[in-house]
Amino acid sequence: MNIGPTSTQHPQAPAAAGATSSAPPSGPAVTGPAVTGSAAPADALRPYRGRTILVRRLSEQDPVPAITALLHRAYAKQVKMGLRPLAGRQDDSVTRRRIHSGECSLAIDTSGLTPADTFDGAIVGVIILNEIEPDNGPDWFTRPGVASFSQLAVDPAAQGAGIGRALLATVERRAAELGNTELGLSMAEPDVQLRQFYQRSGYRIVATWKWPYTNYLSLILSKSLTPVPKA
Ligand SMILES: CC(C)(COP(=O)(O)OP(=O)(O)OC[C@H]1O[C@@H](n2cnc3c(N)ncnc32)[C@H](O)[C@@H]1OP(=O)(O)O)[C@@H](O)C(=O)NCCC(=O)NCCS
Repeated sequence: MNIGPTSTQHPQAPAAAGATSSAPPSGPAVTGPAVTGSAAPADALRPYRGRTILVRRLSEQDPVPAITALLHRAYAKQVKMGLRPLAGRQDDSVTRRRIHSGECSLAIDTSGLTPADTFDGAIVGVIILNEIEPDNGPDWFTRPGVASFSQLAVDPAAQGAGIGRALLATVERRAAELGNTELGLSMAEPDVQLRQFYQRSGYRIVATWKWPYTNYLSLILSKSLTPVPKA
């Protein structure tokens, strides 16, 4: 995998349902503080446990199989619970469709890598803003001013270091930039630890939903976004 430059040009992904503007993708990389805080820039060099994490938008060179493998590792916990999340079993073609249907961001462990290096294991996190689902979703996601994210995952070996919150901060900031006032998500209702993670991050339960491809009820959570001042 070519980790690429620290600042990349990204194709504009489809706008959110209800988005009222379409700001360009985020700007140049900056050296940032630790991996916390809702104001974190979308492309940032972030240190954790002595390692350097870059959160950036997906590029054409990113290896889809590495993302699929990361998803399988991250969702193995839910699979062990008897749940059948799509991300825990999807193949590369489904990963490819999903990451290209919205704005996908990756967390990359750039420690020790040069821009020319190839190292699939360097992808340690993923998230998609405004994925276009082939199946009907909850009404909440189609309300004006509501964006949504999906397929959030952090490699189990890198969990607990703030990467998940950094990915959340990235999509929260981007959704607000696009003019949205709420950011929603769908999660497996039986995963109590995960619900608590989102609630501690400012999300509240707004609905339930049953996706056709899972064997559990999903909770729909949403967070009120801080408006981005107009320049
Ligand atoms: C949920 C997830 C993305 C969090 O990523 P992370 O990098 O570990 O999160 P952070 O380090 O930023 O945040 C740490 C917080 O998450 C909690 N946490 C860590 N791992 C967790 C897990 N597997 N499930 C739930 N919460 C977890 C920690 O207790 C910590 O909470 P606190 O800071 O309030 O004490 C990650 O655990 C994951 O990939 N889980 C599996 C896939 C999944 O369920 N995705 C969401 C689908 S809707």
